[in-house]
Amino acid sequence: MTTDIRPEELLERWDRQQSAYIRHRNQRFDAIANVVEELVGPNPRVLDLACGPGSLTARIRLRLPGSTVVSVDKDPLLIAIGTDVFASDPQAQFQLADLDDPAWLDHLGTFDAVVSSTALHWLAPGVLARVYFELAGLIRPGGVFLNGDHLQYDAATLPLLSQLAERDDQQQQEQAFATGADSWDAWWALAAGRPGYVEAAAQRELCWQGHDAPPPKVTLGYHLEALRSAGFGEVGTVWQYLDDYVVAAIR
Ligand SMILES: C[S@@+](CC[C@H](N)C(=O)[O-])C[C@H]1O[C@@H](n2cnc3c(N)ncnc32)[C@H](O)[C@@H]1O
Repeated sequence: MTTDIRPEELLERWDRQQSAYIRHRNQRFDAIANVVEELVGPNPRVLDLACGPGSLTARIRLRLPGSTVVSVDKDPLLIAIGTDVFASDPQAQFQLADLDDPAWLDHLGTFDAVVSSTALHWLAPGVLARVYFELAGLIRPGGVFLNGDHLQYDAATLPLLSQLAERDDQQQQEQAFATGADSWDAWWALAAGRPGYVEAAAQRELCWQGHDAPPPKVTLGYHLEALRSAGFGEVGTVWQYLDDYVVAAIR
C-alpha cells in the first residue's frame, strides 16, 4: 500500500498508536519536561535517546523554546520522519545512532539533560548498564537523566499488582484500537508505504535483521542501582502509574 501521507500526520498517528500501550503517555512526558526545566533551566542542551519519530523531542521543544535537542535512534525510517517533521526547526537535530555500538556517542558533545521514553527496555541488560556508564560521562555535573518506561512488576513477588497492571494495559489497548488508533503493524505499513520513505524502509529492514527475540526484562531496582554505580548522585522515581515509571538520575 502506498500513500503520500504527511510526516506530521505519521507523527500524530505514532502518538495515538503509542498511547494505546501507555495510558498516561502525556503525563509521563509532562513529568519529564517539568523536571528538565526545574533542574537545568529553560535553555538546556538535551539528548533524546532512542527518539523514534520525535514525540518527546516535540514536547521538549514546545515546553522549552530555548532548548536545543539532539535526537538519536537506530531506525532509519523513524529518523527520516523526525528529520522531515522538524526540518524548519534549527534547534532540533535528528541523527542515526545504534546504542548497541559503543561508538554511538562519538562527537555528540555533552548535555544538560538526557531523556528517553519507551525505549531502553529494547536493550540487553549488559548494554543498558554500559549506556548508563556512558551517560554519566555525557551529562554535565548537575545535569539530569530521565527515563520513562514500563518496568514490569516482578510477577513472583507481586502477583496481584502484576495482574492489575496487565489488565490495565489490555483495557487501554482495547479501548484505543476500538476508537481508531493504528496497531503497531498498521502504522509501520503506513510509514513504509509512503513513496518518499521507500529507501529508509529498506534500510530499516537491514538494521533490524537478527533482532527477533526481545531482551530479558530488568527491574526498577536494576535501573536504579546501575545508575548509582555509573556515578549518578541522586537516583529515584519522579512519576509512576502502576508499573509505568519515570526514573530520574542527577549527575
Ligand atoms: C517504542 S519506540 C519509542 C520511541 C520514542 N522514544 C517514543 O516514546 O515515541 C522504541 C525506540 O527505541 C529505538 N531503539 C531500540 N533499540 C535501539 C538501539 N539499540 N539504539 C537506538 N535506538 C534503539 C527504536 O528504534 C524505537 O524508535
